[in-house]
Amino acid sequence: MNPSPTPVTGHEPPHVADLIVFGGTGDLSMRKLLPALYHCDRDGRLAPETRIIALSRGGLTDADLRGKVDAQVRGSVPGDDPAVWRRFVSRLRHVTLDVHSEDALHDGWRSLGELLAGHDDRDRIFYLASPPMTFGPFCRQAHRAGLVTPRSRVVLEKPLGRDLASAREINDEVGAIFTESQTYRIDHYLGKETVQNLLVLRFANAFLEPVWNSLWIDHVQITATETVGTPGRRGYYDQAGALRDMVQNHLLQLLCLVAMEPPARNDREAIRDEKLKVLQALRPISGTEADRFTVRGQYAAAPGMPGYLDEPDSSPPTGRSYQVETFTAIRAEVKNWRWAGVPFYLRTGKRLPSRRSEIVVQFKDVPHSIFPGGSPNRLVLRLQPSEGIDLHIMSKEPGAGEVALRPAPLGLSFARAFGARVPDAYERLLMDVMGGNPTLFMRRDEVEAAWSWIDPILATWDESGILPEPYPAGSAGPPSAHELLGRSGRAWHEEEPA
Ligand code: BG6
Repeated sequence: MNPSPTPVTGHEPPHVADLIVFGGTGDLSMRKLLPALYHCDRDGRLAPETRIIALSRGGLTDADLRGKVDAQVRGSVPGDDPAVWRRFVSRLRHVTLDVHSEDALHDGWRSLGELLAGHDDRDRIFYLASPPMTFGPFCRQAHRAGLVTPRSRVVLEKPLGRDLASAREINDEVGAIFTESQTYRIDHYLGKETVQNLLVLRFANAFLEPVWNSLWIDHVQITATETVGTPGRRGYYDQAGALRDMVQNHLLQLLCLVAMEPPARNDREAIRDEKLKVLQALRPISGTEADRFTVRGQYAAAPGMPGYLDEPDSSPPTGRSYQVETFTAIRAEVKNWRWAGVPFYLRTGKRLPSRRSEIVVQFKDVPHSIFPGGSPNRLVLRLQPSEGIDLHIMSKEPGAGEVALRPAPLGLSFARAFGARVPDAYERLLMDVMGGNPTLFMRRDEVEAAWSWIDPILATWDESGILPEPYPAGSAGPPSAHELLGRSGRAWHEEEPA
């Protein structure tokens, strides 16, 4: 017999839910959602009756799905407990459904309806881990099949459109079936431990707020670099590029959390209202400013590493492949009282030397120095790897004789300080959806405000016809990214030597 989950103490008992994942056998599901759900199950955060229903075109039986999950997911969940694993896979069901096929209306939706019949009292969560053009049709068909109940929610994976117009269209289509409070637009960066800790750091500690402004802060850097390329993702990546894939959502959300005003309450609308104000205060970048304040690059072949155009894929490169940026850096500005004149540098790219996501807050130098050789304070929030926070302060090098200064970090490593496993972002976000808490999800107006800022940059790039600057795979990105800061005597924060 499968053991019953032991609810985690200090939490409300989990609601019984049917989690219906459209794209349920796809890459995101196998790599992220199912491992996250397994961990939630192990921690007693799934009710015993909760089911996970994967929808795909695959024509699988429940047993086929369980076998596939066993083969593809089990190896990736550290510390797997065989009894919990059995309980977890027993929750899995499969329904074959293709939103592009008319038959879906008869067969797929009917089978799903039979599975859900009699369970209208459960939370019903439709998780759309599928391309954005399917969001509207899926919601319409689910509604027509009579499966959208008052307890239903819909989760939309990014990208939400490819510009403001398409994002609005999708939001309208989904909004015709689900209310805004039933709609959860996911940005997995918001589920990362350090990102949530940023709010705690800023708003639960008194010492930072007085210096969190243009009087004390010189600039902010937000970096998300990856060593991986885009093998097998050409179809998606050619249409996206780094600006749409990473900046429009992840990096802008991080910028919002750094720059927002203290909300009056820790509540869903108060926090999202403040983030929205930051997005609306971003200085538009277009025309010649886009040339000065943005950089785009594409990785080229280097010894042992393919270039973007040579990545193995089922389809060959097209004209669009030559234009797409795999790297971008931007100098943004938040035009308000607190941040006047403080640049926010954003940087992201594929096939760079390390996988690293961090926020660096660079303080100004002391107004008058009595020691030679000092450097300004810097606060580094590490999102990954080794999640934690370092405050670099000036310190005296031990020893007699002349006073020599050296920057040294006051460090908080989450793993060391709390001894706990840092949960994956999806665990947190899935539990928030199940608990009905949308604070860490993007509201419609936020998504659209972010696109409003991105669109003119995209338009300028497209109109220029200039190809992205090549950088060798494995290098630190195109030289212009360094010039973007170098012009004002600044430099990117690079990894500290181990
Ligand atoms: C996704 C992008 O949203 O984020 C991917 O589509 C990217 O291209 C990924 O690789 C990065 O996420 P993380 O959590 O690994 O930094």
